[in-house]
Amino acid sequence: MKVAALIPAAGSGQRLGHGPKAFVQVAGKSLLERSVSALAPHVHEVLVALPDGTTLPEGVRARAIVGGATRQESVLRLLEATGADLVLIHDAARPFLSAATIRAVLEAVQLTGAVTVAHPLADTLLRAEGPLWGNLVERAGLWAVQTPQAGRRDWLLAAHREAQAEGHSATDDAGLLHRAGHAVRLVPGEAALFKVTTPGDLLLAEALAAVWDAQALV
Ligand code: CTP
Ligand code: MG
Repeated sequence: MKVAALIPAAGSGQRLGHGPKAFVQVAGKSLLERSVSALAPHVHEVLVALPDGTTLPEGVRARAIVGGATRQESVLRLLEATGADLVLIHDAARPFLSAATIRAVLEAVQLTGAVTVAHPLADTLLRAEGPLWGNLVERAGLWAVQTPQAGRRDWLLAAHREAQAEGHSATDDAGLLHRAGHAVRLVPGEAALFKVTTPGDLLLAEALAAVWDAQALV
C-alpha cells in the first residue's frame, strides 16, 4: 500500500498577518518545514499545495503543486496529484506533529480507511446569548477536530468531488468522508497539535518550539 502525505499550505494567513502562513518561521524553521520533516520518514511521498507564484523554501524536500482558492480546493488538487492508495492530510499550520501520532493514524487508516485526529475538550462549554452567559453545553463526548486526517484516496476523492458538485463547503476532509457515509475513526490527538491561527498562537508556538526542538535532539 502506497501512502502519501498531503499538506495544504496555500492559505494567505490573513488572521496571522505575516503573509502566507506556511512560510512563517518559528524558532528558525518555517511551519511548512516542520510539518514536512515530521511526515517524510513515515510515507512514500510528501506533496504540498502552495500559494500561486510561490516556490518551496530551500531545504524542504517535497513535491509542490499550486493550491486552490479554498482549503477544500487545495486538498482536491493534492488528491488528484498523487497515485497513493492511502493519504494522510495535514495542515501546514499545525507544526508540532509527533511521530507517535503519525504512527497511530497510519495504523488506524490501514484498518478502517477513514480517520481523523481529534482532541477531547477540557474546558466548560456554553452557548452564549449575545455578550451573556446562555446555556451550558454538555461536554461529555465533545472533541475538537485536528489534523492529520487520513483515508483511502479513492474514498476521499469521491467525497471531495461529490461535495464540489453539490456546492458543499467543508473545513475538514474527515467530515466529507462522514458525509459520504463512511465511519470515521477518531485517534486521540494532543494539545501541541493546535493550529497556528492568530498572533497569540505564534507566541505559544515560539515557546513550545524551544522545548520541542530540544527533545528532538535527545
Ligand atoms: N489552505 C490551503 N489553501 C487555501 C486556504 C488554506 O491550502 N486556499 C491551508 C492553509 O495553508 C493551512 C490550512 O489550509 O495550512 C488551514 O487553513 P488556515 O489555518 O485557515 O490558514 P490560512 O487560510 O492561511 O489562514 P487565514 O484563514 O487566517 O487566512
Ligand atoms: Mg483560512
